[in-house]
Amino acid sequence: MADEPIMDGLRAQAERILRGNDVGEFTKPGPRQYPHQWNWDAALIALGLAHFDLPRALTEIRALLRGQWRDGMVPHILYHTGPSDYFPEPDFWQITTSPNAPALATSGLTQPPVLATVVRMIHARTPIHEFVRQVYPGLLRWHRWLHTARAIEGTALACIIHPWESGTDDSPRWLRAMDDIIPRELPPYRRRDTVHVPDAERPSDVDYERFVYLIDVFRQNRYEAARLLACSPFLVQDVMFNAILYRADQDLSALAHELGEPTDEIAAWLNSVRANFNARFWDDARGLYMDYNVRAHAPICVNTCATFAPLWAGLASEQQAARLVVEHFDNPLEYAPNTNTRYRLPSTAKNERDYAPRRYWCGPVWINMNWMIAEGLRRCGYDTRADLLVRDALALMQLSGLREYYDPRDGRGCGATDFGWSAALAIEMLSSKSIFGARF
Ligand code: DGY
Repeated sequence: MADEPIMDGLRAQAERILRGNDVGEFTKPGPRQYPHQWNWDAALIALGLAHFDLPRALTEIRALLRGQWRDGMVPHILYHTGPSDYFPEPDFWQITTSPNAPALATSGLTQPPVLATVVRMIHARTPIHEFVRQVYPGLLRWHRWLHTARAIEGTALACIIHPWESGTDDSPRWLRAMDDIIPRELPPYRRRDTVHVPDAERPSDVDYERFVYLIDVFRQNRYEAARLLACSPFLVQDVMFNAILYRADQDLSALAHELGEPTDEIAAWLNSVRANFNARFWDDARGLYMDYNVRAHAPICVNTCATFAPLWAGLASEQQAARLVVEHFDNPLEYAPNTNTRYRLPSTAKNERDYAPRRYWCGPVWINMNWMIAEGLRRCGYDTRADLLVRDALALMQLSGLREYYDPRDGRGCGATDFGWSAALAIEMLSSKSIFGARF
């Protein structure tokens, strides 16, 4: 059973961090490392804020949608307060070359579309009809853009064109696809992300060369969606991004239904993704979901926590869910604790060649993944495993503070301090009834 006074302390600390990172209309994901507004961070932060300051949560979402591009894209970074010491700085993106760019300075990429799900979750707890009515058109336009401007081969599955769009920037699942990219001339740039966080916990210089090279390709093509699909050297169908989008489509459809808006278009996306998802991503021999490298016409055979995302979306059959759980989640060589690792869930399977327990998305435990996968496990009837993920997430935050990610071996904190979505999801997990039955 949770030790409630300690949990009260964690909750108070989480609220303090969200208040401390608050810049008025948006919340910095990390006070020093991430001084702007990020897309999926903002959505998850709003979910946490809604527990103690609903109006402020809605402000966070409105601020995010203020950066929406004319074609519907909701960008991954919004520079509401102008430049800072963060790289890329706003001008680096050169978004004004695009007729679709908004008045606000933003990046030219998107990020996992978890926002519709968050809006529905908040609304289910405290009805916010008027707000839902206001934001629904923007959400619909974003999903439409993802299912059209980013779709290929006649299906509604979405492609991503940069690892930053996956939210899991340097995950080993992108290594091969990135190795195939040979940067020609690189624009001048200076990394700033290793000023506040040790090099060994961040992506490598080689990763950054590719990240920057891709941005340069996009800006040269003025962010024209059709051209980027045709020429981006990195073109991938990400299993987690598509699972998050499918779940968000379900939530968007529920909101549309309540508003009396038509749902046919959303139903068509849902049907198309459902019809194509398992054929594209499921590897029956390994019992894992794998991303697909569109440029190489091949699956990406790297085992990371993204493989569990279809549970969150309701896209895995009973048999597929059982294989994910029994063969992988419970396997001490991959994700379960063993003599070397105490905490779930490493972001990359421990027996992957490029597993690195303190480096960004190469192995550390992330609070958002524990939360999302716990929700998915619960949805599929694996409540005990879900409790293990919630228990470990809360234990890590108690042990090492509200950090960006954690070493699965000993629970030491890594990356940014006072991290926004760790704080928000601590509040979410502590507020959700299910944890009170968990074994701590
Ligand atoms: C970073 O700066 O590491 C961000 O993840 C990019 O979006």
